Amino acid sequence: MKSSFNARSTTDEVLKGVDLTGKTVLLTGCNSGLGFETLRQMIGHGAHVIAAARNLKSAQEACAKVGGSTTPLACDLSDLSSVRQAIAAVRASGRSVDIVIANAGIMALPDLEQIHGLEKQFVVNYLAHFMLITGILDMIPRHAGARIVILASSAHTRATPAGIEFDNLSGERGYKAWVFYGQSNVARILFARALSRRFSGAGITVNTLHPGVIADTNLARNLGVLMRALAPIARYFTKTIPQGAATQCYLAAHPEVASVTGQYFSDCKITEPSPAARDDAVGERLWALSEQLVAAHRG
Ligand SMILES: NC(=O)c1ccc[n+]([C@@H]2O[C@H](COP(=O)([O-])OP(=O)(O)OC[C@H]3O[C@@H](n4cnc5c(N)ncnc54)[C@H](OP(=O)(O)O)[C@@H]3O)[C@@H](O)[C@H]2O)c1
Repeated sequence: MKSSFNARSTTDEVLKGVDLTGKTVLLTGCNSGLGFETLRQMIGHGAHVIAAARNLKSAQEACAKVGGSTTPLACDLSDLSSVRQAIAAVRASGRSVDIVIANAGIMALPDLEQIHGLEKQFVVNYLAHFMLITGILDMIPRHAGARIVILASSAHTRATPAGIEFDNLSGERGYKAWVFYGQSNVARILFARALSRRFSGAGITVNTLHPGVIADTNLARNLGVLMRALAPIARYFTKTIPQGAATQCYLAAHPEVASVTGQYFSDCKITEPSPAARDDAVGERLWALSEQLVAAHRG
């Protein structure tokens, strides 16, 4: 597949001429960085956006800034009971969800933090999104061009060669910030591939992506003082927010990728993730485990 876009393409460029009138988008992390730019663009192109943030106030404030047709939604991805409530709210809305953009994430927590006995990046970046998306699968219309887009990162290569350390998901047998950020991204990529296999032939595409390196978002908040001090310089070498959000907007809405599924993109182009992130046997094991992990929280 030949893409019309590249690393410098912006959200304005990839969405030029795209009409999302009548479509409903479910977006996580709507209040900051790439998510806020994606919210702005989805609204600007006519979609209704169910805009999720860690609390209702953040979601409402983000929605108030962009105007348009929105439903602010509280969904704290570090609290699976909040995810359960978010699923219930989406279901109660009665809306079909045409586009899901699992955008929210955290990076490289310096110290081990746990949620429900699991390392936090695994939960926020992956498991909570697994619960949210699998909790609304039946609200995604079949054979109507629906799309699921799951953020990941080139930093998935920083996971161990196994990709997922099933015997250390708590982090208690050893924690390294970047290895666990990497693992959470391997999990996101394996999840996208597993979902795409399940929807094969059903007219729903599922893709994942590395957005590029974007210094202007809040993602680097956990990095050390030195790295944050370098951010103003890094801006000269990294993507702007509209460039960074371009690949997810492209996958969510551009006609060129309407039937592309199960792929990992970077700079609006298909690229190959690491061997660990292509190990679909591990992906199936992860899916089965994830079902067990979230079962107690589904209510
Ligand atoms: N920026 C980059 O260079 C880069 C590179 C590779 C991948 N990515 C990926 O791109 C995505 C967007 O990141 P960004 O750069 O736009 O960073 P960002 O500005 O920090 O945005 C991250 C979003 O995730 C939300 N979030 C974090 N923890 C949450 C929780 N517990 N519950 C609900 N929402 C939560 C944040 O909400 P709060 O504002 O309330 O914290 C924020 O809306 C992430 O998935 C990240 O892994 C980014």
